Parts: sequence; C-alpha cells; structure tokens
Amino acid sequence: MSETQATEARTFEPPQELAAQANVGPDVYAEAEGDRPAFWAKAAGRLTWETPWDEVLDWSNPPFAKWFVGGKLNVAYNCLDRHVEAGHGDQVAYHWEGEPGDTRTFTYAQLTEEVCRAANALTELGVQAGDRVAIYLPMIPEAVISMLACARIGAVHMVVFGGFSADALASRITDAGATLVITSDGGYRRGSASALKPAVDDAVERTEGVRNVLVVKRTGQDVAWSEGRDLWWDDVVAKQSSEHTAEAFDAEHPLYIMYTSGTTAKPKGILHTSGGYLTQVAYTHWAVFDLKPDTDVFWTAADVGWVTGHSYIVYGPLANRATSIMYEGTPETPHRGRWFELIEKYRVTILYTAPTVIRTFMKWGADVPEGFDLTSLRLLGSVGEPINPEAWLWYHKNIGGGRCPIMDTWWQTETGAHMLTPLPGVTSLVPGSAQHPFPGIAAKVVDDEGNELSDDSTGLLVLTEPWPSMLRTIWGDDDRYVDTYWSRFGKTVYFAGDGAKKDADGNIWLLGRVDDVMNVSGHRISTTEVESSLVGHPAVAEAAVVGASDPTTGQGIVAFVILRESGTDSGDELVQTLRSHVAKDIGPIAKPRQIMVVQELPKTRSGKIMRRLLRDIAENRELGDVTTLTDSSVMNMIKDKLPAAPSED
Ligand code: WT7
Repeated sequence: MSETQATEARTFEPPQELAAQANVGPDVYAEAEGDRPAFWAKAAGRLTWETPWDEVLDWSNPPFAKWFVGGKLNVAYNCLDRHVEAGHGDQVAYHWEGEPGDTRTFTYAQLTEEVCRAANALTELGVQAGDRVAIYLPMIPEAVISMLACARIGAVHMVVFGGFSADALASRITDAGATLVITSDGGYRRGSASALKPAVDDAVERTEGVRNVLVVKRTGQDVAWSEGRDLWWDDVVAKQSSEHTAEAFDAEHPLYIMYTSGTTAKPKGILHTSGGYLTQVAYTHWAVFDLKPDTDVFWTAADVGWVTGHSYIVYGPLANRATSIMYEGTPETPHRGRWFELIEKYRVTILYTAPTVIRTFMKWGADVPEGFDLTSLRLLGSVGEPINPEAWLWYHKNIGGGRCPIMDTWWQTETGAHMLTPLPGVTSLVPGSAQHPFPGIAAKVVDDEGNELSDDSTGLLVLTEPWPSMLRTIWGDDDRYVDTYWSRFGKTVYFAGDGAKKDADGNIWLLGRVDDVMNVSGHRISTTEVESSLVGHPAVAEAAVVGASDPTTGQGIVAFVILRESGTDSGDELVQTLRSHVAKDIGPIAKPRQIMVVQELPKTRSGKIMRRLLRDIAENRELGDVTTLTDSSVMNMIKDKLPAAPSED
C-alpha cells in the first residue's frame, strides 16, 4: 500500500451542459438503493431477451449467484444484429488503426456479417456450445470477431494477452481445456513485426486436446505449418455464408474465461457468464461514460487481452451501439504524439486509459499533446490502479483541456464491470479517489474483524451484495473461488484484496493490494509467480519478489535472489539472464525491473519472508521494525550489497 497519499483539496463540479443531458441523474442512487433487484432488472431491460427471466437474482446458495434466472439471450445478437435490425447497419462500430498506419473500418452491418462467417467457420471446425476456444491475437479486428463468433455459438472464449509467453499460454490452454486456438502470424509493436505463431506452436505441442489452430495473416512473416492442424483464417472464414441465426442461451451460460494472477503461482481462470455480465457492462458503459451512440466516438486505449478490453472495447460499447476506436500499437510509435493524432483524426469524444500511460505522457511533456487538436474530447476515464492527484490534474488540464470530467473507475477482472466510480453528470470530483459505489453496488471499508470504518482509517474493501457481472467461479475450482474471495468475512461478503479508506464525505480511496499481488502498469502480477520462475532457473536457490513503488508504472518488480553455488558469477550478465528468463517464462510484462543478488533473505522465526523490509530497501526507505527477524544483521548485509540505482530498460 502506498505510504503517503498526496491530497488535492480542489473538487470539480460536473460540466453544466453535460449534467443537463446526462444519461443518468442524481436520482439513480436512491432508486437503486430502494430496490436493488428492480434496478438491475431495469438495466437488463436495455438488452433484448429471447425469453424473459423468472427471477432477477437467486442468492440462495452463496457465494454462487444466478442472475436473471430462466432468461435467455444471445450476447452477439445484442451487440450486433439488433442494431442492424433497428436501422443502424451503416453506423461505424470500429475505426481500427494498425500501428504502421493502415486502417480498416467496420460498420455494424459489416461486423455482423464477419461474425456470422466466423461463427459458421467455428461450427464447421466442430466447435460446439460450451467448448473453449483460446484466442491469442494482437489488437486486430479478428480478435473482436473471434470473441463475438464464440459468443454467438455459445462457445467460451479464453483470450490470452499476446504479450504472454508460450508457457503461460500452454498452462491456460490446459487448464481451460481449449480445443481450438485462434492466433496470427504476428502483430506490429514498437515499429516492427513481432511473431505470435511460434509461441502457439510451442504451447500446443506441450498440451493435449487442441485440434486446430486458426491463423490470421497480419504481418506476412514466415510461419511454421503443421499440416492438418493449422488453417489460415482466410481459407476457412472467407468462404462461409454471412448469414447465421443466433441461438439464445441461458443467462448463466458461460461467456468467457479470463486468467488473472492470484497469490499463488497458478493463475485463476475467472469465469463470466452471459446475461448479468452484459447487463452490467452495457449499463455502466452508458452511465459512467454518458455514452451517446449517435454522436460519441469512444476509445478505450487498452488491449482486448485484458478484462478492460473485454468489457469496454467489446461488450459494453457494442451493446450500446457505440462507435469505437481500436488501435493496434503502443503510444510512442512512430512518435510520441500517436494517440493524440488518433484523437484529432477521429474526433474522439471519450478516452479511457490507465494512470501509467498518463504518467508516461507527463514524463514526455505537455508540449506533445499541445501539438494536436483535442477539443473533441468531452469525458475522460482512468482504470487499473489508483490515479495520484498529480496525474489526475495533469490529465484534466493537458488532455482534457480543463473541460472534461475524469471517471476514476475501480473494478477488477473478477467484478467484470465498474464498481466504484463517480458519475459524470452527478458527482463533484475529488482527484485521486474512485469515490462511490456505482448505483446498485454495495461496498464498505472494514477492519480485520469486518467492522465498518468510515473515519479515514485504513481497512479492507469489501462488497456486501452480489452484482450482475460478478465472477461465477474460478474455472474448475469452486473451492478456490470460495477460499479466495468469500471466506474472510463469510460467504456473502466479497473480499476484493485492496486496502482502502473512506473519508468523512463518503469518498473511498483505494490504497493498493493487500495481498502478494503487484500492479505493474495496471497489470496484475503475482510475486509468487515471479519467484517460482526465478527458482526455476538453475542458478537460483531462493528468491523473494516485491512490488516497489515506481513513478511511471505504479509498481516495479524487484527481486532478491540467493544463488545456488557461492562461487557463481553474480555479475551483470547473470542478472540480465535471469530477467530474460522471467520474461520468457511468464511474459515481458513480468520482467523484473531490478534483481539483487544477496546472501540471505530476511525471515521471521516461522520462516516467512518479510517482504515489507525488502520493499523498504527497494524503495530506499529507512528500515521498519526488524525485531521479528531471526537475524537482524541480515538486513545490513543486504543493504551493503546494493547497487546505487535500478537498471532500466
Ligand atoms: C486491481 C484489479 C479493472 C481492469 C484493470 C485491472 C487495481 C483497478 C483501480 C482504480 C485503484 C484500481 C486494484 C484492483 N485497480 N482500478 N481505479 N483505483 N485501484 O484489472 O488486473 O483485475 O486488477 O487493479 O488493485 O484490485 P485487474
């Protein structure tokens, strides 16, 4: 948790014009409070159901919830066909832009046809409702088309971020039991083509059950080919009929699995289902971003490989008939104004991104955005980690021109959709706080015994009522689902894993994770996962990993390692080898910022590594209490050995 929380006394009122025409007004809180199920039922009524539900919520067997019991709908139909049927077929669904500057535009009618073709192709490949399909793609339209094609036929998609390694992909394919993998030859990142297919080949070789690999041609680079197993997307999809009748599935039919890091080395497969998920992502997207489908141009600048992309690039925006931007590359390629250029070009009105990106822009300087016309923007969003007031104010002034309210949205892979956030036409904004539970959501800050705190004392964030887009379980592991989230305060209280405090005005301030999970550039990485990768290297005997606060990425990964043989070279070369080893094992996002070779690790008498002390070292702080250490001289030994500054790349 962050030790010091800078504060900003100013508050920012909703712009009058926005408030006057906002999709939701102040009454929504009382309405939801009065009758929570009725409130969510009304939100679900914004979707098209083939069969209406009998019961809004079945919470008779907590923590296993069922929402909209008995209802049937097709998620893809709700995202596509119904807009076409209502006469909006010519509206743009996505302006897609590749990193090299190539573009593709999809209207709702075109996207519907592509998804129908892909759905027919999946069916031809033997994929049936309930089967799992792994998607390992760059940010290209086929990623969205594949997800929706799965949804259309009731297959469960499992998207793996393209930055993950073959190992990570293999373990996810195995855990989910995927029978098809959709990938591409490669994608463009930081100015060059980077390959994806080799990781799939490697992963599939080490798993059982994958019958086919469907390969999108993106970069044209050479690929190894396994005859009979591998198929080009263009060969299989293009020839299909663009007609496909969407079958309705049960509201609780599984929609997707998304793996996220937990406190152990094994990632958790978070399971989301159909009706409740779509209800909440659509409603929050409409309310929090004040989405006006006829005039807004919406951009979630994130990757579809994360939950942010699932909920706010794909399902929420499409369910609301938004026109969205989808961008393949990174912000600095080919130049640091790339994002601003896109905002100017497409007249983007709503931008949703992460604090780490804002802090990077701050580092580059305000003159970069100043060079572009950003006057189309009317609303901004932030997600992934606490946004420090300084970054909030910079974002407000330099990107938002002082006009745009910022929605700081707290949520998780597990929650599926926004949970704590201001509302743009209602809330006086307090920079740095995610402020209030969304209408229909019940959150509290509690102490270790579960007593509510509301006096600025630091406690734990819990959610005390079920919500429609909540995870339903951890794939294949109901016990772990109960243990991880619903055991600390009983089976009806969700433990989020975040520290928080509530101030006298009722604003909730998030203070970071309380478990061994790091947050690096808004990505969750488990300390244990990095530790187990390090000890998997032959040179390493023991490893301890901490997340140290980092001015740009929020936290940076700092590892302390003890080598196996005392004479082993502990020089720079080994450190670089170990960093690459972790990157290869888990993915480049998990590459430690810094690795320190030490002789000992600080441990309690019960043998637990005292990460708190290692964090003090990594953050260059005075050491905290060392009295519970077995050997307090260990800390001096470690400190003496430290290099002056962390290595960067
Ligand atoms: C964790 C969830 C939600 C999509 C992106 C991350 C942190 C997220 C905020 C915020 C403070 C935030 C929390 C949370 N977090 N948004 N607005 N303010 N912290 O999803 O990978 O599941 O991570 O990200 O620590 O528990 P995720």
